[in-house]
Amino acid sequence: MSLKNDLILRAARGGKTERTPVWIMRQAGRILPEYRAVRDRLSGFKELVKTPELAAEVTIQPVDILGVDAAIIFSDILVIPEAMGLTYEMVEKKGPYFPQTIHSQSDLLKIETGDPDKRNYVYKAIEITKNKLDGRVPIIGFAGAPWTIFSYMVEGGGSKTFSKARRLLYTNAAMADQLLGMITESTIGYLKHQIQAGAEMVQIFDSWAGILPPDHYTRFGLEYISKICDAISEVPVTVFAKGAWWAMEEINTLSCQTVGLDWNMNPKKAKRKLPNKTLQGNLDPCVFYADDHSIKTEVKKMLHAFEGHPHIANLGHGIYPDTDPEKVKYFVECVKELSHQR
Ligand code: CP3
Repeated sequence: MSLKNDLILRAARGGKTERTPVWIMRQAGRILPEYRAVRDRLSGFKELVKTPELAAEVTIQPVDILGVDAAIIFSDILVIPEAMGLTYEMVEKKGPYFPQTIHSQSDLLKIETGDPDKRNYVYKAIEITKNKLDGRVPIIGFAGAPWTIFSYMVEGGGSKTFSKARRLLYTNAAMADQLLGMITESTIGYLKHQIQAGAEMVQIFDSWAGILPPDHYTRFGLEYISKICDAISEVPVTVFAKGAWWAMEEINTLSCQTVGLDWNMNPKKAKRKLPNKTLQGNLDPCVFYADDHSIKTEVKKMLHAFEGHPHIANLGHGIYPDTDPEKVKYFVECVKELSHQR
């Protein structure tokens, strides 16, 4: 099946494009009433993730409604810990909760690297999405980075300090390495299956990169991300290490094609530090609370800042749940219009 819109894939590979491609992190779900309507028919978030026909439906919604240049498969990074043996609950308005967590060497006996069949529902959702999209836009697959997944498996949920996960790096580095290695292996298999099912690009979300000291991030974060990047050569890979602005030179050496930038990063500096990479980002999601005129001004500033460098327009992190979808549509229109004119 040939793609009718492959802008994002060409941009990811560093090629020239007629205009800047655009998609939005966490575009599936959250802000769309059409998503709520599907979700409210079910027992909750997890049932939606595990029902491939409906996961495909909400994956395609932002393509139809917002006009983005890619679909990201509706799922969650927590699919990996679950397949490894730690089930989670998604607590409404609070976030994920793991009743069982990992703290010691003996806890590692509770988990396995992951039986690929346990994640079949994700691959099925990708296959259905691919059929339904009929080549309109590419599908982005994704996984959490090992450090971020490790944090959830140790903390049992979100945290302000991540001190339980971080203390292990000082008190039991060997065990931390063992767990990070298991997550990495599981993630490589998972991403390869997503690609086989039809994902044309994959993104690694390291949401908690920014809480580590630089030397720990090199040792326990990038070390494992680089193994994933080296293992995936079939499609372009994007690494999004939120808050790790100090690691850009090192990130430039990873074998990924695209680097996601959060809104703390200065695009001009990023262009210098990441000369070999396509850059993705990095509008502040709070811009959507402003009026249309301000949104347009901010889009102009962003496009100007990335000028001369392969760029995929996006936010600096996931969109906030209380965002008005009309503002997002306007943002997508602005990127299309303004980048076309230049
Ligand atoms: O990008 C997309 O639209 C695709 C789907 C997607 C979800 N989660 C769906 C989801 C993606 C790419 C993710 C990634 C994810 N999940 C990350 C990394 C990105 C980031 O934002 O840093 C993280 C840290 C998680 C873990 C997670 N899942 C949390 C902390 C929460 C609760 C708070 C929140 O963000 O809403 C979730 C739940 C979740 N994952 C929802 C959705 C649509 C909300 C559940 C609902 O109410 O329907």
